[in-house]
Amino acid sequence: MRLFIDTGSVAEVEEVAAWGVLSGATTNPTLLAKEQGDPGDILRRICDLVDGPVSAEVVSGDSGGMVEEGRALAALHDHVIVKVPFSRAGLAATRELTSHGHRVNMTLVFSASQALLAAEAGATYVSCFMGRLDDIGVDSTAVLEEIVGALRPGAVTAQVLAASLRHPMHATIAARLGCEVATVPGKVLEQMLVHPLTEAGVERFGTDWRARPEFGAWLEELVRSSKVALS
Ligand code: G3P
Repeated sequence: MRLFIDTGSVAEVEEVAAWGVLSGATTNPTLLAKEQGDPGDILRRICDLVDGPVSAEVVSGDSGGMVEEGRALAALHDHVIVKVPFSRAGLAATRELTSHGHRVNMTLVFSASQALLAAEAGATYVSCFMGRLDDIGVDSTAVLEEIVGALRPGAVTAQVLAASLRHPMHATIAARLGCEVATVPGKVLEQMLVHPLTEAGVERFGTDWRARPEFGAWLEELVRSSKVALS
């Protein structure tokens, strides 16, 4: 499963992109509305940083407006994926955009039947919101499992994108269910880094190595001579 970052913050993308784990990013109107500056500049900078698909969402309610906005957003950068909210108009806009070569992430999908419609309209990504399902007492794992199960047998090319992730377990569940992508907020990516045994292990290795200063000197020399050999 590939990991995207779910954010409108260039600084957050910059931080996490440096870890080498990001394959793309997703934004939405709420996330971008929190940021200062020109949204186009923000989207282009995120595209350059992740060097992969970056979803930018349309806000029109009618399919014609969605298509116009989608085309304009796609023209910002080759990496832009047009994010279209699920609705009758959204499906029509998805069909129109994809038939002209634009890639679409159909968002706000909460059931397998919606996912089937999104896939048939030509969406590249079908975004199911785990956290928002859990918020209303619906088991997001069961819904996501049904979506993955519904799309796979029909040789549908749409990829299932787990969104609205609130904690690391959502990401693990999405991976185990076979989702192609999970889009994860920076805070949850930070939480995914942490395990007390990792920290304790690093501390222990450092202490043991420092107890043998001559080994430290040996490693420094090894690094120095390998740099000389490579130069
Ligand atoms: O980008 C869409 C989605 O991930 C939003 O998440 O936390 O606002 O439900 P959330």
